[in-house]
This record gives sequence, structure tokens and C-alpha cells, in this order.
Amino acid sequence: MALPCRARRATRNPLVPGKGAVYYNSYEGAGLRPRGDAVMSRRFVLDPFGDKYAHRTSSMLSSEIRDLLAVTARRDIISLAGGLPYTQAMDPGVILGLVEEVLREDHAAALQYGPTDGYAPLKRSLVEVMREEGIPCLPEDIIITNGAQQGLEIISKIFINPGDDIVTEAPSYVGALNSFLSYQPRIHAVPIDGEGMLLDSLEKTLRSLSARGQQVKFIYTVPNFHNPAGVTMSTERRYGLLQLAETYDCLVVEDNPYGLLRFEGEPCPALRSLDENRVIYLGTLSKIFSAGMRIGWVAAPHPILEKLLLAKQSADLCTSSFTQRVAHLYFSRHDWRGQIGQLVEIYRERRNVMLEAMEEYLSGIASWTRPQGGLFLWVTLPEFIRTSDMLASAIDAKVAYVPGRGFFPYEGGENSMRLNFSYPEPELVWEGIKRLSKVIKREVALAKSLGLGPRANGHPGTEE
Ligand SMILES: Cc1ncc(COP(=O)(O)O)c(C=O)c1O
Repeated sequence: MALPCRARRATRNPLVPGKGAVYYNSYEGAGLRPRGDAVMSRRFVLDPFGDKYAHRTSSMLSSEIRDLLAVTARRDIISLAGGLPYTQAMDPGVILGLVEEVLREDHAAALQYGPTDGYAPLKRSLVEVMREEGIPCLPEDIIITNGAQQGLEIISKIFINPGDDIVTEAPSYVGALNSFLSYQPRIHAVPIDGEGMLLDSLEKTLRSLSARGQQVKFIYTVPNFHNPAGVTMSTERRYGLLQLAETYDCLVVEDNPYGLLRFEGEPCPALRSLDENRVIYLGTLSKIFSAGMRIGWVAAPHPILEKLLLAKQSADLCTSSFTQRVAHLYFSRHDWRGQIGQLVEIYRERRNVMLEAMEEYLSGIASWTRPQGGLFLWVTLPEFIRTSDMLASAIDAKVAYVPGRGFFPYEGGENSMRLNFSYPEPELVWEGIKRLSKVIKREVALAKSLGLGPRANGHPGTEE
């Protein structure tokens, strides 16, 4: 329901950047100033540096996730926003032991700079992690990065010239969109359904660009337990996507943070395992070990790795020698497979609770995906509901979600939202959906009184 616009994105304002640009910062106008430690910028800012910024800053998106995390730091709010792994499941005693060992073994090296491409013993552990998903790889095919996010950033840096064409899914991971957009490409957002990217639509895009002499640099996909949609690309689509990539000679960027977090069903082959000459693979330890260690990696053909290495060198010289060593000990000494198994149990239960609560409270009003793994559910509401506008009411009702709009490069997702089930305890997942349903039902009742009917548009891959 288009209620008075109380929560709005900051940096999509065309006035930014520019001399004396005024921008409106999201949630304070809705009385959402957080208490406690969270700090938010003032509502209206006259930016005296507006004429100094590079043009690329005009296409940078503010991360709704980041804004939200600031607001939802309030203890009284049940946050179904964010994408936090449940790090409470990790035994601090285990980590403490590893840290001590790292320092005892060679404290000087652990506290020193390290090679830009990463700590060699850890690369061998990462190869093992990939093997767990049936992806053959050699340590020399990898560079270690500060999370997969840095991988996305340096891929953007080495491939995207302003105006270049790239393809993403719609919706897509907001952190990837942010990295891509700051290099000013034209993003072609291809819709997805319950089996991933719609290949007809992808082909149409590639064909029409090719007819105009334009070539897509790369196709970006999160094939397993998609962020934000929760869906998994079917095996058939994986082959089809690679076929199209070959026909139109584009690279594929496969971002796979969630592949090992499967609750049910059979794994599909990784794109990289089907075509290692065309696929740039991104992995991360964030969802299976620790997001705080900031360790990810890129596996790619060697000429691409060379360029990525240069880009990484100028970004940060190297990934932390210290955390790489801790991670290496963890993966070489600890039962990491067992730990992932525990996480899977925890997340499966929370997903089930969320699905049951959705059924109980929102059946017939909303549609949603049924993820076979990962952290997220994608919810589609009746078309007249604007989830960005509704967020203020949700926060009032002490529940938070991520509005769908931020997961689209230009437009879309206005009546959708992403819900996270990995972080809140099961009782809070249930209570969160209950609160959210009241907010949604209020919007629907208001719409009904205005003569609009509740109708959910079930895309992508949703069930009602
Ligand atoms: C699809 C996807 N790619 C990349 C990342 C970034 O991961 P990292 O913590 O390794 O930087 C995330 C984090 O949520 C993600 O969901």
C-alpha cells in the first residue's frame, strides 16, 4: 500500500553527487533513530564535497542491509533482515586453542604481511572444501581474498569499463550489485524462477546485444540457495547457461557461499566443475566457519588470476596472515564437516519453523520460496504493497526484513522482501512472522477498504 513515504533509499537520489547535493537518509524520518550504540547520520545532509566525488559514486547504491542492521541492532526488534550466520554455534574454546597454536608456532609470521595470493597451506584446505562439493581444483588455481566480497570487487575492477554490458539475476545479491555498479556497467537483470535464471530471457538478452555488436563481459549467478531468493539453479539450467555463455563467448561468475548448507535434495554440479575455462568461481568461509575472519577465494583461469592479483595488491596487499593461519588449522585439524552438519541441522529447523509460520499466518496473502538450503526466504506480497514503505510500520511492530527493491539494479522487487532464518532462535522466527503478518494484514485491509484486492504475484519460484 503506498502509504506516505517514510523510509527511502539515500543514494539513488539523482542529486548525488553534485554541488550542494541534498540527500535524504533512510529511517530517521520514521522515528527510527536507534538507541544504544548504533549511530545514524542526520536526516538531511548538505554535502559540501558534492562536486569533488568521482562520477562512479553516483551509481553506488546504499546497502539497505547495512542501513537495516544499524536499526535492527535494537534488542526489542526481531530481525529477519541481515544475512548473519549463527556464529554462536561455534565453540570459542576451539578457536582459542587454534589462535594460541598459531602464535606459538610462528608468531612473527602470523603478525607479518603475507603473499598477495594467500597462505599456501590454507589454499590446500580450500581445495578440500571445494572437493566436498565435487569441484576439482588445484591450490595454484586459487587466490585468497578478504571474503568473497573482495573477489566481486576485484572482478569488477578488472573487467568492467563504464558502459560495458553484464548480466545478473533479478533479484541478485546486493553486495555484488554494489561492486558492479560502482564501475558503471549496463546491467541486464534476467528474471529467475524456482529453477534459477530463465534461459529464454537470458538468450534473448544475449542475442539482442550481439545483434547490436555488443558482448556481455560476464554473467553473474548465485546458483545454490540464492541470496536473496533462496532458490537453486537446476542441473539442466546449469548446462543451458554454460551453453549460452559459450555461444555468446561470455565469462560466468559463479558465487557459491551456501553450497554446503543443504538441508534436503541432491546437490547439482557446480558450474566450475562443468567448465573451468569459462567460470570464475567465488568461495567463502563466511557461512561455514567465520564471517569475521574475512576469508574468501577466487578460482579462475590463470591469466585472469594474474590480473586479479594485481587488483588485489593495490587494494590491500594481502589478506590477514593471522586469520588465514587460524583458518588453516581449523580446516586441517578440526571436524569442520561435523560443524557444517550442526549448522545444517540448526538452519533446517529454523527454515521449517519459518515455513510453518508463513503457512499459519500468511497463507493466501503472500507467496514464498521453499529453500533447500542456505539462509533466506523470498516473499512476494500483493502488488499494491510497497515493502520499502511498509518497513517503518514493521519496525514499529518490532520486526525487520529487507525490502526487495535493493536486490534489483534499477527497478523491481517493490512488493517483495527477503527474510533470514539462520540467525534468530526458532521461537523468534515464529514470533517475527506473526508480527510481520499483522503488519501485512493491516496493509491488505487498508487496500481492501480502498477497493484493491489481495493478489500475490508468485515470482520467483514461490509457493502460496
Ligand atoms: C551471494 C553472496 N556473495 C558474497 C557474499 C560475501 O561474502 P563474504 O563474507 O565472503 O565477503 C555474500 C554474503 O552474504 C553473499 O550472500
